[in-house]
Amino acid sequence: MQTELSTRLGVEHAVFGFTPFPAVAAAISRAGGFGVLGAVRYGAGEDLARDLDWMQEHTDGAPYGLDVVMPAKKVEGVTEAQIEAMIPEGHRAFVRDTLAKHGVPELAEGEASGWRITGWLEQVARSQLDVAFDYPVKLLANALGSPPPDVVARAHDHGILVAALAGSARHARHHQEAGLDVIVAQGYEAGGHTGEIASMVLTPEVVRAVDPLPVLAAGGIGSGEQIAAGLALGAQGVWIGSLWLTTEEAELHSAALTRKLLAAGSGDTVRSRALTGKPARQLRTEWTDAWEDPDGPDPLPMPLQGLLVAEAVSRIQKYEVEPLLGTPVGQIVGRMDSVRPVRAVFDDLTRGFERAIDRVNRIAGRA
Ligand SMILES: Cc1cc2nc3c(=O)[nH]c(=O)nc-3n(C[C@H](O)[C@H](O)[C@H](O)COP(=O)(O)O)c2cc1C
Repeated sequence: MQTELSTRLGVEHAVFGFTPFPAVAAAISRAGGFGVLGAVRYGAGEDLARDLDWMQEHTDGAPYGLDVVMPAKKVEGVTEAQIEAMIPEGHRAFVRDTLAKHGVPELAEGEASGWRITGWLEQVARSQLDVAFDYPVKLLANALGSPPPDVVARAHDHGILVAALAGSARHARHHQEAGLDVIVAQGYEAGGHTGEIASMVLTPEVVRAVDPLPVLAAGGIGSGEQIAAGLALGAQGVWIGSLWLTTEEAELHSAALTRKLLAAGSGDTVRSRALTGKPARQLRTEWTDAWEDPDGPDPLPMPLQGLLVAEAVSRIQKYEVEPLLGTPVGQIVGRMDSVRPVRAVFDDLTRGFERAIDRVNRIAGRA
């Protein structure tokens, strides 16, 4: 599975794997793909440096990338505490009541909330980049819009390609105008923040809109046949996120969550603002249902919603409160039905790709 982009990055297969787990990212790169480590859950730098050191030791020299979350809109000159003070009391009460209804225990006295997304604060993302530029990262991706011009320039000075996710052709063209090198066209069915256009429509639309920039097809890819489809639509590779959540290397630290992922069908996700304030596809749970209730409050805009629910999510995860327990995941969750090493998943992808090519060749009368 080689394309101009995979050759440029020096990888065997044009399969890009997004994951928040270093062990998964390293395994994807070792398997011949391109592992991309998500940095949003790291704080301002030290933990990231530790894990990038680890990646260096465990990628056998194979290239890898980093994904940061720099929102397009800046929140400038405001401290986290000031932002937190903007959360209405009614919303806090709703969270308290929902947790109480399900008997979710409190965290221990003085215990910090483990689930705290601060990576979307521009100053945090910037300090992560200060760390990242000391490592041989080959691609820098941004989740929420084009990174600021100085970040793009710095990455280019380090010989790093810059990518960004796009949910529409308009977004993609904006990234192109901002001087980015790679567009990740992420469809509606994907896990995490998504737009409203499905991959089948989005991929060729973005390919045409930003030609000749390379495009990666993302959203709903869990088999080699789907990879072949993405490449047939003009993509120079695929970008996969959900599929790795049920690999042996994924550090979900929750048997209950893994069980829920394995049991879920493709209709068991919902695009909800309950987690971050922006529409993000995730497992449908009693927590997401509570936020859909017309009698309850509307989720707050980003970044307030993330701050509002951070402690609640930590408590739900820590005590594995099954009805409320969820994670961002895409519709491909319906295909994730066993826990396997990354290498086995990857081998399946390459075999499925071969099958798809053979099949299409037969149909075209070429084999
Ligand atoms: C658990 C999870 C967390 C994610 N977090 C991020 C993130 O921090 N930054 C980002 O650019 N994309 C994030 N995404 C989206 C992925 O980068 C990718 O575009 C998406 O998973 C592709 O669709 P798929 O889930 O159908 O494979 C996340 C996806 C999942 C499943």
